[in-house]
Amino acid sequence: MSDTASTPKVKTLPDAQTVTKVTHWTERLFSFRCTRPQSLRFRSGEFVMIGLMGDNGKPLLRAYSIASPSWDDELEFYSIKVPDGPLTSRLQHIEPGDQIILRPKPVGTLVHDALLPGKRLWFLATGTGIAPFASLMRDPETYEKYEQVIMMHTCRDVAELEYGRRLIEDLRNDPLIGEMVEGKLHYYPTTTREESPHMGRITENLTSGRVFADLGQPGPLTPETDRVMVCGSLGFNIDVKAILEGWSLREGANSEPAEYVVEKAFVGE
Ligand code: A2P
Repeated sequence: MSDTASTPKVKTLPDAQTVTKVTHWTERLFSFRCTRPQSLRFRSGEFVMIGLMGDNGKPLLRAYSIASPSWDDELEFYSIKVPDGPLTSRLQHIEPGDQIILRPKPVGTLVHDALLPGKRLWFLATGTGIAPFASLMRDPETYEKYEQVIMMHTCRDVAELEYGRRLIEDLRNDPLIGEMVEGKLHYYPTTTREESPHMGRITENLTSGRVFADLGQPGPLTPETDRVMVCGSLGFNIDVKAILEGWSLREGANSEPAEYVVEKAFVGE
């Protein structure tokens, strides 16, 4: 992991924001922070379009979940690096002081408003799908609304879990939010291709009941008590939906809240 930081420079592009910090977690993953437009208001869990100016003079934009909480002065994003991806092949080289384009129109379904009130909230993510939950886990509203919050995150190997692991460690040590999350936030990281304390896909750990046994939580999920937010690859989202529907949970939306919501982890290029 390597960090770089500097103070913001002058803006020139339309919708431009200045990169303030870049952290490379693995060869495939990095996160960065940038200035926040003063007028930008968003709900934790939403995404915006961000990107760079293309060689043809047109903006090259992709949807990125905002990983920072709504009270943060800056914005944070978590991204994959794809060597020949049109955007991320370039975005991975940004440095503090560089400019990115950010369209300040946040949208998305992974928001508290899209779920009916419940007791237990499950965040289920693979890979960079943890980004919206990085925002929601740092939002006090999450702990005001639920008695228990469970973050299940699965990656291929241990290094890919580090962004989430560090975030939760910082949260537990935070003088303000630390007290709110104590005894409420349960973290269940697993790997599928490298040995680690907990292994296996989220889907397997839910259906086998292993996660309930490991966390000492009642299982399976029920429409009466459980609410779920899902963010991962297309295949992951489809498989999790089938499991949740099998447990009689219904998909919700901003216009019609229900028991679970799903969003694809963005930016595969
Ligand atoms: P696996 O290693 O068994 O494929 P990726 O890096 O390819 O985006 O995958 C991230 C994590 O998501 C991996 O641990 C992968 O497990 C897991 N995964 C991929 N597809 C599914 C799925 N359909 N259901 C559950 N987990 C999945």
